[in-house]
Amino acid sequence: MAFSFGLGLRTQHYNDFLDAPQPVDWLEVISDNYMVDGGKPLAILDRIRSDYPVAMHGVSMSIGAIGGLDASYLHKLKALEQRIEPMWVSDHLCWTGVHGRNMHDLLPLPFTVEALQIVRRNIDQAQESLQRPLVLENVSSYVEFKTSEMTEWEFLAELCQATGCQLLLDINNIYVSAFNHGFAPSRFIEGVPADSVIQFHLAGHQNNGDHLIDTHDHPVCDGVWDLYRQALKHFGFIPTMIERDDNIPSLAELLSELDTARAIANSVLNQAVAI
Ligand SMILES: [Fe+2]
Repeated sequence: MAFSFGLGLRTQHYNDFLDAPQPVDWLEVISDNYMVDGGKPLAILDRIRSDYPVAMHGVSMSIGAIGGLDASYLHKLKALEQRIEPMWVSDHLCWTGVHGRNMHDLLPLPFTVEALQIVRRNIDQAQESLQRPLVLENVSSYVEFKTSEMTEWEFLAELCQATGCQLLLDINNIYVSAFNHGFAPSRFIEGVPADSVIQFHLAGHQNNGDHLIDTHDHPVCDGVWDLYRQALKHFGFIPTMIERDDNIPSLAELLSELDTARAIANSVLNQAVAI
């Protein structure tokens, strides 16, 4: 699936995809919105899936949960996976709640050996259920733990090596976290195992001057496009998509933004070939 470009499927664009073919190679869906027994969204997803490859992207697995993963969540996720037959199944390197309570937020983890063991055990549980590699995405963060014993990219590299999980690199999240915590984003890109990266996310954020918030309500900014160029040079071509979750524009506007990603990727490829 190299050189392919997708979009996150949002309800505002259901009819665009149902009414006519659209110039995307695949779509990513939020798994949690379709982990149900029936209803209109699932029926629409079935129709769209007959026309497009689909990636499943979850927001509530809570892979950092100290008490292990929720078996009923995994059961529903597996049922959707069998129904949709996705390209891959991803979620985030984070925790989302405790004692069965979902905070509906992607909360950061301390990057400690202890946390590594917990996440590793949980990835094993997820992969045992899914019978395929889990794909983990780096989240944006606004605080760091003093107890961390390694960087986020070292933590991810250890997980890939120990479990065979794969990576969804969110270029915007690297940009946001690098700004907020004062590290060079190139260290993140160069620090994760290149052969484990199978997808890129691009998104917009909110600039509050002394910190950035990962809002997904703006177009991709110039700094993130520059980091995308760096990532392409380092990893080669990785399936890329744009995420927009708020202030959602027309599909035409998002497709135009995706054309910018295509142009950048083609430019980087041609330079690489010329060299
Ligand atoms: Fe993302």
